[in-house]
Amino acid sequence: MGERTVDVNVETKETLAAVRTFIQAQAEFGLSEFRLARTDAAARLTDFHGSIRDCRMCGLCESRRAVVFGSGNPEADLMFVGEAPGAEEDRTGMPFVGPAGELLTRMIEAIGFQRDEVYIANVIKCRPPGNRDPKPEEVSTCKPFLERQIEYIQPVAICALGLFAARTLLETDEPMSSLRGRLFSYRGIHLIPTYHPAALLRNRQWKRPAWEDLQHLRRVYDNAAG
Ligand code: URA
Repeated sequence: MGERTVDVNVETKETLAAVRTFIQAQAEFGLSEFRLARTDAAARLTDFHGSIRDCRMCGLCESRRAVVFGSGNPEADLMFVGEAPGAEEDRTGMPFVGPAGELLTRMIEAIGFQRDEVYIANVIKCRPPGNRDPKPEEVSTCKPFLERQIEYIQPVAICALGLFAARTLLETDEPMSSLRGRLFSYRGIHLIPTYHPAALLRNRQWKRPAWEDLQHLRRVYDNAAG
């Protein structure tokens, strides 16, 4: 029997799994070669990045050097979300590359992942001058960008780094003391809040609870990923 190739574009990981099972069952009947392509999250993210690279939708564009879009695996099952770029991130265009970023890399590795296996982004894509707190209008302008990234990536779990990311995603005013240690759902995606790595660098006593949160995240991920 001649070789046939079928390209199938699918929207979600679940559909991809179903298609894979179906095709594997067909293989013995002569569908000898197949390529599976999830609708390309990488291409969608790249296009999206291009479309906001010169964003001027809020005042932060006046002082920023780079829109810090996000980095990592576009098809990651695990996503880490911080607050906003700092000086080093603004200079390089990459999230979490300063001292807090080095700690975040170690936190990711401590639960058995490599940094490039996960996806890292911030709620706010441009550095607030002097690292001041983002203003409500900056949050409402920028949050849809993060929402779209999450929609494209479809992670199994999100770790919200710090009170700002947790409150923004969960739309709550609760303090970190009541948020951490719990499992939330963000649009059907597991969400675990923990301390921001920059806060951990200043408050050593939070390292133990943060480690517990990371272990919790790993368990949730393992259960969800099967
Ligand atoms: N802090 C954040 O929240 N994000 C970064 O990218 C860097 C520091």
